[in-house]
Amino acid sequence: MKVLGIESSCDETGIAVLDVETGELHQRLYSQIERHREYGGVVPELASRDHVAKAGPMIIELLEQTGGVDSLDGIVYTRGPGLIGALMVGASIARGMGWALNKPVLGVHHMEGHLLAPMLSADKPEFPFVALLVSGGHSMLVDVQAVGHYQILGETLDDAVGEAFDKTAKLLGLPYPGGPELAALAAGVTETELVFPRPMVDRPGLEFSFSGLKTFALNTISRLSPLSEQDRAEIAFAFERAVVETLQIKCQRALQHTGYRSLVVAGGVGANRRLRQQLAVMAEKHGYQVSFPAMEYCTDNGAMIAYAGGLRMAAGQRDVDVSDVLPRWSLEDLPGIAANA
Ligand code: KG4
Ligand code: ZN
Repeated sequence: MKVLGIESSCDETGIAVLDVETGELHQRLYSQIERHREYGGVVPELASRDHVAKAGPMIIELLEQTGGVDSLDGIVYTRGPGLIGALMVGASIARGMGWALNKPVLGVHHMEGHLLAPMLSADKPEFPFVALLVSGGHSMLVDVQAVGHYQILGETLDDAVGEAFDKTAKLLGLPYPGGPELAALAAGVTETELVFPRPMVDRPGLEFSFSGLKTFALNTISRLSPLSEQDRAEIAFAFERAVVETLQIKCQRALQHTGYRSLVVAGGVGANRRLRQQLAVMAEKHGYQVSFPAMEYCTDNGAMIAYAGGLRMAAGQRDVDVSDVLPRWSLEDLPGIAANA
């Protein structure tokens, strides 16, 4: 089965063609970051317009190079969660193509795409595992028994991790999206006397809370101002260290709670090197397996949507009488797939 995957939930237009059986994958990615930078964050209306402008030509170009539209067995797209206007663009294109070409169409859960992205690598993690999903809009620990069998173990009560990175980076005067910029600023530091709190680690449970860290950063900045370059770098380092340690403690707790030996990290913040290092050290120490998607599959992309949707379509799932998108959509509401429903 060969599917076209379309991702348009936020500020990346991702298009991919995947052969589910052979794993042959071709993709295109267009990031709108430059467009949103001057506003310090994603402007939803601009995002929708940019998807409209880019998605069509990208699909035509990719299909020209991968056997044409007739070679497709179906079209899958991100149905949610995400920005409603942005989602509508991918959904409308997918449904329009499906109708015009008489091919099946299926809406995919964006976070399932992230969660299954490590499966695109050669050494696929085996079920069951704990997934740490850390992106700009979500932060959660998920018990993954099989495809479609997800139980959320804990979520953020306020800001997502990526959001906390972005907001703290903004306070430090860094451009949007601040996560990678803050990480780069922190990379030159190895020690500091600044200590940021580790939110909610001293009480039981797997919930997160990151909004306090941003306030702590703001207070630290006011206290130390005017900031030297070294101050800025140390604040970035102390913030990142606190976030990474908090995530590591909660991951360890989730592994103990489920009894699983395997951890999968996905979502944009999964690209963070310090997080990768710290989780690798934890895994080594306790004999866990830890998997990360390739860097290119951490942030939004079409391949992960083609993969998740392709698996489901190969198992017979289709959209039936679907005309909406789902800006809010829980992973727990997804069906299993035929083999393990
Ligand atoms: O998964 P993603 O591409 O989009 C959403 O679905 O939200 O994640 C984007 C988020 C942004 O907040 C970005 O700042 C953050 O991931 N991010 C990072 C790094 N790379 C991306 N945060 C920390 N360190 C990084 N290296
Ligand atoms: Zn995402």
